[in-house]
Amino acid sequence: MTTTLIKNARVMTCERGLEIIEGGAVAIRDGRIAWVGEGTPDFMAEHEIDAYGALVTPGLVDCHTHAAFFGDRGAEFEQRAAGRTYQEIQAAGGGIAATLGPTREALACGALELALIARLGEMLSGGSTTIEIKTGYALTTEGELGLLRVIANAAEHVPARCVATLLAHLVPPERRADRDAFVAEICERWIPGATTAETVDVWCEDAAFTLAETRQILDAARRSNKAVRGHVGQLSDVGGAELFAEYGARSVDHLEYVSDHAIAALAGAGTVAVMLPGACVQLRLPVPPVAKLRAARVPLAVATDLNPGTSWSEHLPMQMWLATTHFAMTVEEAWLGVTRIAARALGLSDVGVLAPGSRGDVVIWKCDRPVDVCYRMGISLVETVIAAGVVVLT
Ligand code: NIG
Ligand code: FE
Repeated sequence: MTTTLIKNARVMTCERGLEIIEGGAVAIRDGRIAWVGEGTPDFMAEHEIDAYGALVTPGLVDCHTHAAFFGDRGAEFEQRAAGRTYQEIQAAGGGIAATLGPTREALACGALELALIARLGEMLSGGSTTIEIKTGYALTTEGELGLLRVIANAAEHVPARCVATLLAHLVPPERRADRDAFVAEICERWIPGATTAETVDVWCEDAAFTLAETRQILDAARRSNKAVRGHVGQLSDVGGAELFAEYGARSVDHLEYVSDHAIAALAGAGTVAVMLPGACVQLRLPVPPVAKLRAARVPLAVATDLNPGTSWSEHLPMQMWLATTHFAMTVEEAWLGVTRIAARALGLSDVGVLAPGSRGDVVIWKCDRPVDVCYRMGISLVETVIAAGVVVLT
């Protein structure tokens, strides 16, 4: 049995808001949290880390990423900087479709797995120890199932907990003429074949999958006992949030455009609203109605949305800064949104909190207050990352 003790810490367990245990300690035994509290436990530890009064929190949970991509879209970024919109670029053949070719090629030659492993390392160094990874940049049956294999293989090489999600991202250009058959293929072949993905996600938007197509995909997910999540209300409100609430979705993500009626439905369904401020700012979209979501008691998470088109961001603290400034979320909401509530969006209860039995994922910060991680813009305050009891960055 290996026991690691982090002592002399300001411990924020994220179980009770921003509450801090002063002079606290966290013990990890065999990859799991064994003890959290004031002082030190009465058993011996092989390894001791003195936090010297620093903030110690759970490892962060990035509950929405598209990390399994290859290539870049810097030229689109330049065009948007010069005033073009995402929709204009997508209509001209850019957007997700522009990432399909490089990703399919990298999948075929093995380069994608290496790129993903490197990217997961970067995410770990930003404090993320649980990372959701969506498919969605192959958009063929073989390609999407291949992406799931790449995600599973990459996960073997990093100590982060990786959670795969099957994403019906877009009808690719070559399938637009037979889109009904494409949707049927998703329902009949992708979803039943996606054995390593517990959850199915759909981009529900006229530019991607219509409400009726989304419903077909959600029905297929239900038949395969998959949980569901959705990209909803990013560019327009087509009624996606109500639909996902009807299916008891774990989360709906984006929500720049969402009606009061849909917010009530989300609250009733216990669905998490995942805020993606990086994508919102980069596309110059309106801010989601955070105050209304809060008032309706819809749980709020925050994620990077890491992808080459709308948010190339590996580090959650940058999103926490955006959430607390541009989105007017509180510091407590930002913290719980990248820990306990993010875990809930993934259907996990043993990450995102420091409690006996949860995974031994801990971050020691170069600061002593929770506010600093939101407040200090664009630099990393991560001192040490421990994932499943293994020190991966120090
Ligand atoms: O979450 N909205 C759809 N998907 C991504 C964009 C992906 C891309 O442009 O490559 C998002 O913002
Ligand atoms: Fe996304």
